Amino acid sequence: MRIILLLLITAFVIMPLSTVGAEKAKTIDELAKMYDSSQCKSCHAEIYAQWEKSHHARPLMGVKGGLMLTPLALKKGEKGATAFSEDDPKKMKISNFPCFKCHLPQAVTSAEDSVAAELAEALLAKDSAKVGKLQITCMVCHNEKALIHKRELGAPEKGVIYGNKDVASHAGGKIKKSAIMKDSVFCGQCHGLGPNLEFDQAFQCANLYGSYLHNYVSGGGTKSCQDCHMQKGDHLIAPNFNDDKQTSELLAKALTLDVETLGYEWLRKAATYVPKVVVNTKIVSSAGHRIPDG
Ligand code: HEC
Ligand code: HEC
Ligand code: HEC
Ligand code: HEC
Ligand code: HEC
Repeated sequence: MRIILLLLITAFVIMPLSTVGAEKAKTIDELAKMYDSSQCKSCHAEIYAQWEKSHHARPLMGVKGGLMLTPLALKKGEKGATAFSEDDPKKMKISNFPCFKCHLPQAVTSAEDSVAAELAEALLAKDSAKVGKLQITCMVCHNEKALIHKRELGAPEKGVIYGNKDVASHAGGKIKKSAIMKDSVFCGQCHGLGPNLEFDQAFQCANLYGSYLHNYVSGGGTKSCQDCHMQKGDHLIAPNFNDDKQTSELLAKALTLDVETLGYEWLRKAATYVPKVVVNTKIVSSAGHRIPDG
């Protein structure tokens, strides 16, 4: 009797949780709306404009609009298709796009498989406007990714914005302090989890945070990702690879080139001078990790 009662109680406790699952987005538009951050624009215009130009605002678009997820959407067996492809794009599921783990984390937590099928069809139709709706928005970073100790702290509260400090009244809601916004581990959630050995088909994309910890910090480096990439809260988080001029200026600033030369003449035999030169070059990168990456 006791056991039956316990089972009944467990059933009731589990029920409400599964209804949360039922609220997942069924279409690209629904998922985009769930994480829509356009309301932030009116008060944070500068940050919004920086973010709009950033890679985080176009995580499925590829460099210069190359729609880099297209190979996954191709038919199995077709030239260029991947191990994640299906024989019909309509069969594509969230699990066929392991890329979502970092390129669109909200798809893993909040989208039905129908979103993956719709995305596959949009990729094949080169429908950039539709693919472009899927973004790492303000709310992805300032809510979904703002807590990492979820067993102790619980999941991020719905609708709450997390920042560097508590703000009791903010745009009709409130801001809660997150312990990690200033810490490199915040960025490491997406920039440091490769190689991805947990999927049934392992692959690699981006483990720059590993290089930061094991090469830069261990060598005496003291700066965080934010110190170098988000000075004064800059949400462009450069480099922006769609902007060649800005990227080459940044690279020129980030690389020093020291050249030391010694010119001399070698007296090979009487009255025969052979000109010789010794050139030593040293290129130093000021990045806090190896480049290139990803
Ligand atoms: C009505 C205007 C308004 C809107 C809309 C608004 N904010 Fe703010 N926000 C502010 C003001 C003002 C502050 C400064 C509050 C303070 O420091 O006391 C602020 C501060 C912040 C902070 C900084 C907290 C910290 O770490 O110091 C974050 C993060 C933030 N807003 C995120 C957002 C996001 C994300 C959105 C959209 C979902 C948004 N805001 C929409 C006015 C607004
Ligand atoms: C572990 C997290 C993670 C996973 C999983 C992941 N990526 Fe990435 N990817 C990144 C990050 C972060 C960058 C940014 C570059 C960097 O950190 O060096 C990136 C950059 C890229 C780039 C270069 C930028 C661009 O837009 O062209 C491509 C292409 C790419 N990823 C494709 C994929 C594909 C395809 C998958 C799935 C098969 C995938 N990634 C899975 C984190 C990930
Ligand atoms: C890729 C993740 C990411 C995205 C996307 C993002 N933020 Fe942030 N934001 C951060 C981090 C990390 C900080 C803390 C930086 C620091 O303190 O060094 C921050 C800080 C802020 C601050 C405080 C700035 C300051 O100088 O005190 C505001 C306000 C803010 N974000 C608003 C926004 C708004 C509005 C958007 C969308 C347009 C947005 N953020 C998108 C990661 C993000
Ligand atoms: C939600 C996951 C996520 C978080 C959190 C995140 N990023 Fe990214 N970031 C990405 C992805 C995915 C890309 C590549 C987008 C693309 O395909 O163009 C990217 C692109 C970038 C780029 C542009 C260069 C490139 O190779 O595309 C820089 C620089 C960058 N991120 C730095 C940071 C820093 C610094 C932080 C922490 C303040 C951070 N990111 C937080 C996922 C994330
Ligand atoms: C000491 C400063 C510094 C630190 C710390 C730092 N970065 Fe960088 N990062 C740079 C510089 C400089 C570049 C090179 C700019 C370029 O490629 O044009 C760069 C480039 C990048 C790129 C582009 C990689 C590529 O393939 O070209 C990404 C992504 C990135 N950083 C993310 C991060 C993340 C995430 C962290 C923290 C784990 C971090 N950075 C820590 C300075 C830094």
